[in-house]
Amino acid sequence: MPFLQSLISSVTSLGHKNAASVVGVDIGSSSIKVVQLRSSRGVAILETYGEIALGPYGKQPIGKVVKLSSEQLGEALRDLLKEANVTTHEGSMSVSFSSTMMTVVELPKVGAEALKRIIPLEARKYVPVPISEVTLDWFVIPEDEVGKSAFDVLTKDKDTKLKGQEVLLVAIQNAMLQNMQSISSAVGLTVDFYEIEVFSAIRASFEHGIAPMAFVDIGAGTTKVYIVERGIVRLTHLIMVGGQQMTETLGHAMSWEFEKAERVKRENGLIDNTAYSRTENDQIQSVLLSTLSRVFTEVNRVLLSYGQRYNKNIAQVVLLGGGASLPGITTAAKSSLSVEVDISHPFTHTEAPAFLDSVLQSIGPGFAVSVGLALRKLQQK
Ligand SMILES: Nc1ncnc2c1ncn2[C@@H]1O[C@H](COP(=O)(O)OP(=O)(O)OP(=O)(O)O)[C@@H](O)[C@H]1O
Ligand SMILES: [Mg+2]
Repeated sequence: MPFLQSLISSVTSLGHKNAASVVGVDIGSSSIKVVQLRSSRGVAILETYGEIALGPYGKQPIGKVVKLSSEQLGEALRDLLKEANVTTHEGSMSVSFSSTMMTVVELPKVGAEALKRIIPLEARKYVPVPISEVTLDWFVIPEDEVGKSAFDVLTKDKDTKLKGQEVLLVAIQNAMLQNMQSISSAVGLTVDFYEIEVFSAIRASFEHGIAPMAFVDIGAGTTKVYIVERGIVRLTHLIMVGGQQMTETLGHAMSWEFEKAERVKRENGLIDNTAYSRTENDQIQSVLLSTLSRVFTEVNRVLLSYGQRYNKNIAQVVLLGGGASLPGITTAAKSSLSVEVDISHPFTHTEAPAFLDSVLQSIGPGFAVSVGLALRKLQQK
């Protein structure tokens, strides 16, 4: 199954023929997002999009992370496809980063056939479950992108200098893939690829550039950090803090129910709210900032360790995920992270009626994965 593809050229060319519509489905831990696109003369036309909170399907409030069965997820997805007026049955679906293992390994330079034999052996070192329970995939990082790899450094003193190759190795739990397949067939979607959300998110958030940059997906339960260089994923990292914790901390501090804290966070975030006193505003903002700064401190640590390991500076951080829609987040991020900070605007890769501009701008970061999935599906047509 083709989980990986070069990310360098992935946003550039869409088919030039008018093609059927496709839908990208992102099943997150707190909500499902869908985006339906159609290609017309090389442009991705946005036909419809929608989001449904999963909380209520598990008797929890909106914004909460819930663990649902594949039947319940199927029910939620069916409701969403209907509400959003999705008309196509051709889809692509994301696989959550947390059910995958991803790492760059250094291997001797051997051909494709030999790699096929080496990879399962190598994967045992990294995959904490039996190899028979996962599906493996890999991508040889082109040599140009490697530069002076750690492998070269380790072997440089040897008489016969072995030249290694760097390989991005990915393992996905088979059980997770089976779940996704049963959800898609339950709702009548023909899904010909399941893509790890990392690649979808980057495709939709990547503008250009060869310098290393970091993508930070602030989801509900966790935050994911992906370092990308020349369009290739070099490092991934999971932070166990996300938007839900922001809401919970705010709720505790202000003695509010989760629902109210969630609403205030989304509507006002770090910006003053006229409904509250100066003291209350300060309190709200400092509570939200304290959780956010835990995220940024860890992002900084990841950037620093990457920089030290490869002797390169990360020039830019792109924020995405629902948490990146927090009002005022850019200023907070800029003061915590010592690099350029941008917010992902995935819908700029699509064409939509002008009256949708501002709403697509504000909800965009949360739709990066679903837009990226739909874009890849369109490219295949
Ligand atoms: N306008 C907003 N301001 C602040 N936070 C927001 C806003 N909109 C959504 N969020 C938060 O974003 C989080 C959900 O983000 P997202 O939809 O990307 O997560 P998910 O995909 O369900 O989760 P994950 O990626 O971790 O599986 C929630 O914590 C939610 O409260
Ligand atoms: Mg997500």
